[in-house]
Amino acid sequence: MTLSACESRTQLTPYFPIGWYSIGRGHELRNGEVQAVTVFDRELALYRSRSGKAVVTDAFCPHLGAHLGVQGRVVGEDLRCPFHGWKFGPDGNCNEIPYCDEIPERAKIRIWHVNETNGDIMVWFHPQDLPPTFDMPVVEEFNSDEWSQPQFWEFTVPNHVQNIAENVCDPEHFQYVHRMPDTPPSEVTIEEDGRILHLHTDAKDAAHPNQLHATVYNPGLATVRTTYAPDAAMMLYSTAQPVSLHETHMRWTLTVRNEIVDFAGDDVMRGIKDGIFDDMHIWEHKIYREKPLFCKADTTLVQFRKWVRQFYVDGMRFVETEPVKPKIKFSNV
Ligand code: FES
Ligand SMILES: [Fe+2]
Repeated sequence: MTLSACESRTQLTPYFPIGWYSIGRGHELRNGEVQAVTVFDRELALYRSRSGKAVVTDAFCPHLGAHLGVQGRVVGEDLRCPFHGWKFGPDGNCNEIPYCDEIPERAKIRIWHVNETNGDIMVWFHPQDLPPTFDMPVVEEFNSDEWSQPQFWEFTVPNHVQNIAENVCDPEHFQYVHRMPDTPPSEVTIEEDGRILHLHTDAKDAAHPNQLHATVYNPGLATVRTTYAPDAAMMLYSTAQPVSLHETHMRWTLTVRNEIVDFAGDDVMRGIKDGIFDDMHIWEHKIYREKPLFCKADTTLVQFRKWVRQFYVDGMRFVETEPVKPKIKFSNV
């Protein structure tokens, strides 16, 4: 008997989209510190050299495969493998084997493109290993005296990064998930180069006192600016670490105008956290629909799906992941 295909949450999912993704907070990595990182279903090693440069490498040593991020040692600008002491420079080349004066030509590790802008350590992902095709945005609020010290928050979502990003272009769910009385009119615009997406809610009346402007640079990299009144505004910066195709670690950084920091800063953060818990139940259980059944009013979602295509390379868009096989249990009884 053949079983007909049924839908599971993990069977059909997009690959990792092209773009910049976070793997840590800059202030949480001291000079000389080494960390192990899981991102894009891969193991990486992250270290900060003695001069302060963040370096990201593939985790496994080309020699016998030790994990460089677990008890690897920073030596000046280099990373030394914990197993037999091979030393790799920030260019990825092995520059010393302590017990051998000849270094094999292929003794190299892959170095990832890193950008430490806006406080997070970001790495570039491209499924064909191409170098960055766009730069990280600079968030002006972080460099301005008019904005408060940032607050940080992190959480893990059991879903693909694209599903989380899609939420920005989904104004209708605010009524049903976040219990808002209704939905303000929303508009998606895309910059001339096709890459940067903006969502504006343009109403500003008694029912919708907040104006919202979200800017999405690639799936998982966004700013959301909300204005409550002149000089009463907040900015949420969101970065994502796609741990696997089914798990995404989100890093949020919130800053508010100094004028409202005393009476609104913590409340704004609390409100946002509550909102995420509402979303979480949906994310935890939803599947990815490659071809959703959109209705006429779903215009911003349709725009998002068209926009997001550019972050995938043809032929790498979908990955069939094997359904989990039942484990066979042996018993003597
Ligand atoms: S495994 Fe890294 S030096 Fe041997
Ligand atoms: Fe939401």
